Amino acid sequence: MKKDITNQGDVSVVKSPEEESLFVSLRAAKWEEFTGQENVKRSLKVALAAARKRGEPMEHTLLYGPPGLGKTTLSHLIAGEMGSNIRVTSGPAIERAGDLASILTNLEPNDILFIDEIHRLSKVVEEALYPAMEDFALDIVLGKGPSARTLRLDLPHITIVGATTRIGLLSAPLRDRFGITHRLAFYSPEELAIIISRAASKLKCPIGQLATHQLAKRARGTPRIALRLLKRARDVAQVHGTGEVTDKLLMQALNMLEVDPLGLDNSDRRFLLAIIDKFDGGPVGLETLAATISEDIGTIEEVIEPYLMQVGFLKRTPRGRVATPAAYNHFGKSQQSNHPSLL
Ligand SMILES: Nc1ncnc2c1ncn2[C@@H]1O[C@H](COP(=O)(O)OP(=O)(O)O)[C@@H](O)[C@H]1O
Ligand SMILES: [Mg+2]
Repeated sequence: MKKDITNQGDVSVVKSPEEESLFVSLRAAKWEEFTGQENVKRSLKVALAAARKRGEPMEHTLLYGPPGLGKTTLSHLIAGEMGSNIRVTSGPAIERAGDLASILTNLEPNDILFIDEIHRLSKVVEEALYPAMEDFALDIVLGKGPSARTLRLDLPHITIVGATTRIGLLSAPLRDRFGITHRLAFYSPEELAIIISRAASKLKCPIGQLATHQLAKRARGTPRIALRLLKRARDVAQVHGTGEVTDKLLMQALNMLEVDPLGLDNSDRRFLLAIIDKFDGGPVGLETLAATISEDIGTIEEVIEPYLMQVGFLKRTPRGRVATPAAYNHFGKSQQSNHPSLL
């Protein structure tokens, strides 16, 4: 199924290369600039300090949670703290075990290998990764059939930092090989306001306190979306105003992007309204829903659903997805009591 990338309202889904470079320039370069996720930061810092004290590499670390919450940023902060190089790759980019071998053998001790979307590693590559993580070794098979031999190659002691939006898709053996696992949670509006203010001053884009707050409340708990909305608001402010993001110009930008007062965008609304209007509020299976709104199942599970569950608009039940009374309220709809037992 194809995503509608022309749909401007899908602020949480679409990601362009130009935008990616903006995020790199806005990326927190210091721990102090990484707002929120206090427990995660605290425990990563302890692990880093301990590793440094022992003169060992940091333990393999797995970061998971919805897109845009800071997994990539944290991996760079970890590398910075270790004073080591970071090599960035992703699950789908490592096609064969040989690709993994060439990456690993080119690393130096204490280096960080960041594997994004680690749930998308192929089985073969994943199995090649096990000895690399456990014993800092690589088993290379020479020849074929009965005469095949394995050669064990020693690797530098490195740290794998894995990131995933789908922890459930990770195999248990892979998950177990990470000494440290952290889930990143959605951010509070107060935390997002701090992130927005900092980004605005880096972008030299004046924005009032009220506008900062409004923006923070509509960013779906996600720094990436907060920064994206800020950038759009800045465009509107430059075209229709003096460059300062005022409340009025912010509202104009948010209306243009069809972001509602809770931060829901077109994709969120289409998804919820499909459940409410086409399936009487559910329960309805994920595949059926995906087909109904022509949305990719992965996008629904990774991007759309986590926030809707967070705000209490959606429940996952064994029989399918259910829209909650709060969701009906949000759309000013009244609920027929078709499934009283479920709600
Ligand atoms: N806690 C945070 N404090 C400040 N900025 C953040 C924070 N988390 C994420 N960001 C910013 O949001 C953007 C997206 O974050 P990123 O690390 O790419 O998320 P992920 O890898 O989880 O998708 C980056 O520009 C990053 O600097
Ligand atoms: Mg990332």
